[in-house]
Amino acid sequence: MAFLIDGKQISQQVIEDTAAEVAEFQITYGIKPGLAVVLVGEDPASQVYVRNKVKRAEEVGLNSIEHRLAATCSQQALNKLVDELNTDPMVHGILVQLPLPAHLNEAEIISAISPEKDVDGFHPLNVGALACGEASLVPCTPLGCIIMLKTVYEDLSGKNAVVIGRSNIVGKPMAALLLQENCTVTMVHSRTKNIEAVCSQADIVVAAIGRPEFVSAGWIKPGATVIDVGINAIERDGRRRLVGDVDFTSVEPIAAAITPVPGGVGPMTIACLMKNTLTAARSQVLARELEREAG
Ligand SMILES: NC(=O)c1ccc[n+]([C@@H]2O[C@H](COP(=O)([O-])OP(=O)(O)OC[C@H]3O[C@@H](n4cnc5c(N)ncnc54)[C@H](OP(=O)(O)O)[C@@H]3O)[C@@H](O)[C@H]2O)c1
Repeated sequence: MAFLIDGKQISQQVIEDTAAEVAEFQITYGIKPGLAVVLVGEDPASQVYVRNKVKRAEEVGLNSIEHRLAATCSQQALNKLVDELNTDPMVHGILVQLPLPAHLNEAEIISAISPEKDVDGFHPLNVGALACGEASLVPCTPLGCIIMLKTVYEDLSGKNAVVIGRSNIVGKPMAALLLQENCTVTMVHSRTKNIEAVCSQADIVVAAIGRPEFVSAGWIKPGATVIDVGINAIERDGRRRLVGDVDFTSVEPIAAAITPVPGGVGPMTIACLMKNTLTAARSQVLARELEREAG
């Protein structure tokens, strides 16, 4: 039986540690780190995500500011709001909930967010910094996966890691973070040949595909660690269920450690958003202090 990597418990620890550091930040600097969350339109899933983010932010002691814009809002109106948030000294993190309605340009909005407030880690400057191995704001989901892996391994150095999926929000930053941890990293995707054979060599498999229970037992080396990023809603036995990209039932007896779905990577993503907001607030305060010092 594999060791279950408990995302609820690990994320709770991240939340508690962040809350303690936020309290210390407030005592030191006399301000609360501020997180602005922008929701455009009324997509039900996005509404739930935003509600959860705002709730968590309040629990952690952040100053959470929610902005709602109509689904019909113009690119100009969204750009204007982001500009205002960029210059607001009480806002240290900005998150524009994706996906945006089809008439809005996501890439333009991501690039409009000040890189120092980009708590999603999607701005091209943060993406480039991560690729160069420099300090940056890192996308929350892969950051959460690395924190989970570090509860399994004292040192990730030298491990063979395979990342399935090459999206900008999960697969690519995940591979970059594993490389920073000195793993030997292989990325596979829909055009990869012999994907099963490649995965079965890995000590660590991270699945971010978006296909329910796609990765089965034959893909996994006995004793490997499996991180399942996928969240897929399916109907089974007349009930709606959430399942991952990994066939948990067949893989769990083979793996040494595995994340469940739900209760695995999901809760880590929000916890890491809180952590990133504190990181962003610290570096902004430090930058202002350095500016003042320099006169
Ligand atoms: N837990 C969380 O907080 C969290 C956060 C984000 C995403 N997710 C979940 O993670 C999953 C992936 O999300 P994403 O945004 O990365 O998805 P995405 O943008 O759709 O990317 C999916 C990736 O999987 C690859 N892929 C698709 N079919 C494949 C196949 N048959 N064989 C091999 N690779 C295949 C695609 O390859 P190509 O590039 O070749 O098309 C693509 O690179 C989804 O279930 C999503 O809901 C969870």
